[in-house]
Amino acid sequence: MPRFPRTTSTADGLSDRIFSDLGARARARGGRIYALQVGDTYLDPPAMMRAEAQLTSEHVRLHNYAPVQGEPVLLDAIVERLSARSGAAIDRELVQVTNGGTSGLSVIAQTLLDPGDEVLLPSPYWPLARGIFASRGAVPVQVPLFTRLDEPGFDVEETLERAVTPRTAALYVNTPNNPTSRVLPPEALAAMARVAARHDLWLLCDEAYEELWLGDAQPAPAWAREDFRGRSVAVHTLSKGYGFAGARIGFVHGPAEAMRALRSVNTFATYCAPRPFQLGAARGLREADAWLDEARALYREAGTRAARALGVRVPEGGTFLFVDVSAHLRPGEETCAPFLERALDAGVWLTPGSASGSDFPRHVRLCFTAVPPDDLDEALRALAPLLQR
Ligand SMILES: Cc1ncc(COP(=O)(O)O)c(C=O)c1O
Repeated sequence: MPRFPRTTSTADGLSDRIFSDLGARARARGGRIYALQVGDTYLDPPAMMRAEAQLTSEHVRLHNYAPVQGEPVLLDAIVERLSARSGAAIDRELVQVTNGGTSGLSVIAQTLLDPGDEVLLPSPYWPLARGIFASRGAVPVQVPLFTRLDEPGFDVEETLERAVTPRTAALYVNTPNNPTSRVLPPEALAAMARVAARHDLWLLCDEAYEELWLGDAQPAPAWAREDFRGRSVAVHTLSKGYGFAGARIGFVHGPAEAMRALRSVNTFATYCAPRPFQLGAARGLREADAWLDEARALYREAGTRAARALGVRVPEGGTFLFVDVSAHLRPGEETCAPFLERALDAGVWLTPGSASGSDFPRHVRLCFTAVPPDDLDEALRALAPLLQR
């Protein structure tokens, strides 16, 4: 049957309606709106990373193509950082620069998953993760996990095990997690590794929030664990830690057999990442540790204040709070949709929990780093009347 004028069933299955509906309401409302629905930051990136810090006069062919694998100076900086983080030398050949984490996960999906393969997706999850796997024709299998970590007797291994089928090919591991801001404890990671080993699964580690740990110390990276090594492919991004989202710089690393194929896939997907921002990223990875410390302190403060105002657990890492608003719904309200509308009418734009999994129709997500502290306080004040029981 001819395709024209139909689009693919994969594309038809991807919907951003929930976001656009609220967007239309926000536009119709006008006035000041605190946009806490997107994971973003009010901070500008470190000075040496910024667009205006990369000068054509200082870099020959600044706006030309970069090598497919990545700018040599950035690859060196990545290898240094990963090696320091894992305590083991990382082979430069096994690193690929990507156009941010979204593209990184997308090329991982194209490299490691065939259409019809199932991916275990612990939920709630980063809203785009599901669509990225679905775009590949893979089947994301939601497994409620992050919100259950504190349940007495909750067993990560058994829970994942129950979701495995003969089609399962991979397990997605995002810690710190978007949207719960939970960090997976070592026992949970060990349980994941056992399931992966038992069923020969790839472990897809999403390190987007690796620099935004908000506890006392940076958690050890999952991909560097003995029981993850060899079967884990990790995706990193400078979007979150460094406030560099518009620059679209990320990177992937993993075992040789995955990375050889991934480099080809990346060539056909994007060819290379923007050269000026690769040069900025290289400097940031080497020179911006003090900036990261300050950013973390600001975010820690914001996250703690927001968590107290909303009556939820203080975030362990990341930029979000995930709040069950069941108690604040009115009689007859089944989902958070009317709550989101009330929040928007009060000037605060939040994300529906359903974007992070079908088990969360009565949760909402709030980004506490998207606006400066005074604006966040204003937004929390505006939300307060909606949160009274
Ligand atoms: C868990 C997670 N992974 C990856 C990304 C991708 O980030 P980017 O494409 O901006 O690098 C995000 C962005 O929100 C995220 O939350």
